Amino acid sequence: MKRSGMPRPDPAAFIRANLPISRVPSIPEILLHTAGPASGLWRLAGRRQADAPPYWAYPWAGGAVLARHLLDRPEIVTGRRVLDLGAGSGLVAIAAAKAGAATVMAVDVDANAIAAISLNATINDVTISAVAADILDAPPPEAADLLVVGDLFYDPSLALQVMTFLRRCQASGIEVLIGDPERAYLPLGDLSRVATHAVADFGASTGGKAVQAGVFSLRQ
Ligand SMILES: C[S@@+](CC[C@H](N)C(=O)[O-])C[C@H]1O[C@@H](n2cnc3c(N)ncnc32)[C@H](O)[C@@H]1O
Repeated sequence: MKRSGMPRPDPAAFIRANLPISRVPSIPEILLHTAGPASGLWRLAGRRQADAPPYWAYPWAGGAVLARHLLDRPEIVTGRRVLDLGAGSGLVAIAAAKAGAATVMAVDVDANAIAAISLNATINDVTISAVAADILDAPPPEAADLLVVGDLFYDPSLALQVMTFLRRCQASGIEVLIGDPERAYLPLGDLSRVATHAVADFGASTGGKAVQAGVFSLRQ
């Protein structure tokens, strides 16, 4: 599709060419195509207000803390069907697959994220089913035992929608784990802290410095 007179590049080809592969800080087990200053992400992300910010191009603290937790405690995922909601780069999904999950599905609303997840799964030698969808208003997924959610509480209305969906999933018997560096809209009163790890953050306020991020379950 032509936009502003310029053709939008193929996401997978663009990511391969412009987002170098690097190890994730705090998670040396995982490699990701990661954006840097020379990536020119705007060429892929688009300039319309309606275009989603390219959050998928970075590993976020919420995802990093969950990935660290699953890799350190593989028994959480071993043999289970894991769904990574708001998967971004696929960091948490990849950690779940490496830790021994039976199946891993990664869901994100951004088609560029889906391209990145597929490439990142390949370079980490794991199998992930990457799906472009908004499932927040859908019934709880049938093919999931564990729902993992990394850094999805950065926007007030999204946070409310996510919590409503997570409550429905919990009521249907799906375990929920959230990773988050306590961003503004994380509903701490509804959560129990399971673990804390120091991980790098790409949030603007911390400038990439390490933060103490938490892994949380939902209170009953
Ligand atoms: C801050 S990033 C976190 C990515 C990854 N989980 C991590 O921690 O590195 C948030 C991601 O959630 C996705 N997202 C936003 N709203 C969503 C929705 N309703 N359903 C699924 N994904 C969504 C965005 O496209 C983005 O990739």
